[in-house]
Amino acid sequence: MERSKIAPNDIRALKAQGGIPVLTAYDYPMTRLLDEAGIPVILVGDSLGMVVLGYPDTTHVTLEEMEHHVRAAARAKPRAVLVGDLPYQTYATPEQAVESARRLVAAGADAVKAEGGWALLPQFSAIIQAGVPFCGHLGMLPQSVVAEGGYKIKGRREEERAALLADAIALEKTGAFAIVLELVTPIVAGEIRRAVNIPTIGIGSGPDCDGQVLVTPDLLGAFPWFTPKFVQPKVRSAELSRAAIQLWMEEIK
Ligand code: KIV
Repeated sequence: MERSKIAPNDIRALKAQGGIPVLTAYDYPMTRLLDEAGIPVILVGDSLGMVVLGYPDTTHVTLEEMEHHVRAAARAKPRAVLVGDLPYQTYATPEQAVESARRLVAAGADAVKAEGGWALLPQFSAIIQAGVPFCGHLGMLPQSVVAEGGYKIKGRREEERAALLADAIALEKTGAFAIVLELVTPIVAGEIRRAVNIPTIGIGSGPDCDGQVLVTPDLLGAFPWFTPKFVQPKVRSAELSRAAIQLWMEEIK
C-alpha cells in the first residue's frame, strides 16, 4: 500500500514524540534510499557545496546549483518533506527571498530553509506569506563562516544565549515549522527546545533536541577528507569504495 506524502505541518506534530531523523541528499539515488528507509525530512542542504561540488564552504553555492540538485532529488518523488536550502545572498530582501524560495519550489522542494534570526524575519515572513513552508536555522551559520572567521560554538555567552532564545521564539511566531540548531551548546539547545512548540533539529548541539540532522556523506564516511568532531560515521564507505576499485583493477589486469 502506498503511504501518503508527509507535510511540513506533520513534522510539527512529531515534536511530542521526539527523535526526528533528518538527513541530507543531493541527488536521485540517495533521496530514494533515505525515503525507502523512512526518513521523514530530507534536506537538499547547501553543504552540497563542500561534499559534492568541492567548494571550500557554502558561500560559493548558487541558486542555479541548488535548483539542479533539488530537481534531481525531487525525481525520487519522496514521501518525505523535501527541504531545499536557500543559498548565500539569495534572500537579502523580502522580494528576493520569495523569488528564490519559489524557484526551489518550482524545482520540486516542499519547503525551504534559510539561516538567521530577527534581522531576517521580514524575509522569512514574506516566504511564509507566499505559501512556502519554512524551516529556520540558528546557532553557527555556515553561510557566515567567512565573516565570522570559522565555525564557532554558539550559546556560551549570556548575550548569545538570550539572542538564540529570542530568535527561536520569533521564528516560531513567524510560522516556521521547525528550526535547525547548529553547534549550539547542549544546555542552550535544551532551553530552546523547551521554549518553542515546533521541533528543534540539532546538529552538533547535543541530545536535548527534538530531532537530529547530519550531512549524509559524514554519516556514511563517504567524504573521508573531513569529518566534523561530533560525527561518528556508521560505515566507512569511502574505504569500501577504494577497496572495490582496487579489486576490480586487479581483476582486469
Ligand atoms: O547544508 C546543510 O546540509 C545543512 C545541515 C548541516 C543542517 O544546513
